[in-house]
Amino acid sequence: MPLVTARQLLDEAAKGSYGVGAFNVNDMEQIQAIMAAAEETKSPVIVQASRGARAFAEDRYLYHLMLAAAELHPNIPMALHQDHGNSFDTCKSAIELGFTSVMMDGSLKEDGKTPSTFEENIEVTRRVVEYAHPRGVSVEGEIGVLGGVEDGHGAGGSGLEHLTDPDQAVEFAERTGVDSLALAIGTSHGAYKFTKKPDGSVLKMDVLIAIHKRLPHTHLVMHGSSSVPKDLQDIVNKYGGKLKQTWGVPIEEIQLGIRHGVRKINVDTDCRLAITGAIRKVFAESPEKFDPRDYLKPAREAMKKVVAERMNEFGQAGHSGDYSPISLAEMAKGYQSGKLDTRPSLATSR
Ligand code: G3H
Ligand code: 13P
Ligand code: ZN
Repeated sequence: MPLVTARQLLDEAAKGSYGVGAFNVNDMEQIQAIMAAAEETKSPVIVQASRGARAFAEDRYLYHLMLAAAELHPNIPMALHQDHGNSFDTCKSAIELGFTSVMMDGSLKEDGKTPSTFEENIEVTRRVVEYAHPRGVSVEGEIGVLGGVEDGHGAGGSGLEHLTDPDQAVEFAERTGVDSLALAIGTSHGAYKFTKKPDGSVLKMDVLIAIHKRLPHTHLVMHGSSSVPKDLQDIVNKYGGKLKQTWGVPIEEIQLGIRHGVRKINVDTDCRLAITGAIRKVFAESPEKFDPRDYLKPAREAMKKVVAERMNEFGQAGHSGDYSPISLAEMAKGYQSGKLDTRPSLATSR
């Protein structure tokens, strides 16, 4: 199947009341792991690349690997998404390269560290929407600021300092016309999210539920949604790693979110842990080995296993057959006619 937009996947997920995992990639083995999991579970999927990933892989390689994935997996609907675009230019270059979806993370300034003002966020996000929609490409925005720092991206902190304000979420959706909106509800990027298992008082699911009630047509996105399972931490540590014990986002909280409008769930750390544990195991148990295939194959298998688990847990499994691909040109027409408009004042009356 040709690459489709995240918007098509999320619209379909809303109809079927499920969530779609968005998994980060940097190389061929990670793309292969995701595609193998999607085949096994019959899932639609979002594959995403951060700015760091695009630089690491020389993004043209990533794009062509995705075309290979589409060719090899004609029955899997998939989108290629820019994760945490930091500027208009980053999003524009992703679209020019062939990404079918972009995130303009205007919650931070272009340095990827300093929280921006609400008006700055609206301004840059609206500019990206105005560029992307006539080209049929979908746009994710973010308001509120997540915790943690990944690859120089993020304001640091616990994730509770800049929670999303529901009134601002509604105004943001109205003034930008984004297809989807990432919320800050107490999660953070990376492995060190919580020092104990979080309960309802730590993750602000009530904020998410309130926003979904007021913005039923804007797909909600949960970032920092790795569950950081103890068994994956244990494998890394058993074979020489030095992770401090930590807790991620419980699957039940993500499933609660999915019942209240969460359609895209971002997962990177769990895949990183699975890969690292598998490679460490080979290095520790077979130090005589030096063929990269001896450790990349189990690493790819370990990532496939965790991705397949998430696809089942998010409910996307079994849904790959529900799609007829919508081209970017058709999506562009849908935006132009207003059919795909998500702005609360227009979407509710259509
Ligand atoms: O947003 C964070 C993702 O885990 C990507 O991380 O910027 O280190 O590639 P990265
Ligand atoms: P994790 O670090 O929890 O996997 O979050 C990934 C993410 O939000 C990518 O944008
Ligand atoms: Zn993120």
